[in-house]
Amino acid sequence: MKNQPSNFKSMTTLFQIPLIFFLLIFFGVANANTFAQGNTPSREAKKLYEEYCASCHSGGFKGWMTSAPEIGEIDEWKSFFDKGIEEMTHNVFTGEKKHEIKGECEDCSKEEIQATIEYIMLVTQ
Ligand code: HEC
Repeated sequence: MKNQPSNFKSMTTLFQIPLIFFLLIFFGVANANTFAQGNTPSREAKKLYEEYCASCHSGGFKGWMTSAPEIGEIDEWKSFFDKGIEEMTHNVFTGEKKHEIKGECEDCSKEEIQATIEYIMLVTQ
C-alpha cells in the first residue's frame, strides 16, 4: 500500500503518452487540411466557375462583349486582384461596380463566390 502513490503516478504517465500522440496526430492532420484548402481549389469552386463565370471570364463572345477580364491573363486581372479578395467578393456578391449580382449564380452563398474568385486567382496568378 505504501507504493500506491507512485503506482498511481506511473499509471497517469501511461495514459498521457497516447494522449500526446493523439493530439499530435490530430493537430497534424488539421494543419495539413488547412494547408490543402489554401492551395488547391475545391472541385466545387471549379464547377461553379465553369457553370456561371466562364461564360464571361473565359473569353469568347460574351467575354468580348462585356470586356470581362479573362481567366489566366494576369495583366487583365492585376488591378482587380490588387484590391484584395474581400473587396472583390463584396463587389461580385452585391453586384457593385456594375458586376452581375453574384455573377449570375443566384443561389451562391458569399463563401461560394469567394471560393470561386480564389479559384480564378489560383489559375491566373
Ligand atoms: C455577364 C458577364 C459576367 C459574368 C457571368 C461574371 N462576370 Fe465577373 N466580371 C465581369 C466583368 C465585365 C468584369 C469587369 C468589371 C469592371 O471592369 O469593373 C468582371 C469582374 C469580376 C471581378 C473583379 C470585380 C471587382 O471589381 O472587384 C471578379 C472577382 C469577378 N468578376 C468574378 C466573377 C465570378 C466569381 C463570377 C461567377 C460566379 C463572375 N465574375 C461572373 C463579367 C462577368
